[in-house]
Amino acid sequence: MNKKIIIAIDGFSSTGKSTIAKLLAEKYNYIYVDTGAMYRAVTLYAMNNNFVSKNHLDEKGLLLNLKNISLSFKFNKDLGYAEMFLNRKNVEKEIRTLEVSQLVSKVAAISDVRKKLVAEQKIMGKDKGIVMDGRDIGTVVFPEAELKLFMIASADKRATRRYKELLDRGDKVSFKDVLFNVEERDRLDSTRKDSPLIKADNAIEFDNSDMGIEEQFDRICALVDREIA
Ligand code: DC
Repeated sequence: MNKKIIIAIDGFSSTGKSTIAKLLAEKYNYIYVDTGAMYRAVTLYAMNNNFVSKNHLDEKGLLLNLKNISLSFKFNKDLGYAEMFLNRKNVEKEIRTLEVSQLVSKVAAISDVRKKLVAEQKIMGKDKGIVMDGRDIGTVVFPEAELKLFMIASADKRATRRYKELLDRGDKVSFKDVLFNVEERDRLDSTRKDSPLIKADNAIEFDNSDMGIEEQFDRICALVDREIA
């Protein structure tokens, strides 16, 4: 029988991490965890309870309420992946708005928020057979992961992808705002004090600005196959 491993996928926003992660999870029958969804769900909670907005962050208020935030994933057979639940409510759609994207980096920079989510993520990976994507998976959550990927792509390509996704959902957004958000999150996520987005020393970098998803997936599967053999 093949060995079960941990696949850690990190990289900038909208580099196609989740697309690759979902395909890998399906092919190898692994659990897929989108850790960005967890930071987004905490941000949604903070927004709904007036702990965060464009010009304010009540870190103390949010931290006092961390114990009231319960996050879980439930697999949706029709979609083929797990959806995010916040305090038993499906928030999969709500967490993907541009508004949440504009506030999430502020919330994700809070060390005690990270501590809570990293602890939950480590538990999810304790039996291996998992593919997890985020910003600090190969560096902080699973430094021992057998396979670490680091995805990059030009800001313009990423914003174009994200813009299309938001339009397809029916959200009214401008390309300019989406591009600004992609670049601003890159800056905030890579310069924060706690667990900044950096490539782990032993991560393999993929620049998919001009590489199709199939070619990329084939190359990554070859790496997985070598590792689990
Ligand atoms: O993957 P995403 O774009 O949905 O993530 C949303 C934000 O969450 C991202 O801008 C930074 C934060 N994040 C993080 O700090 N650490 C992770 N492991 C995953 C996401």
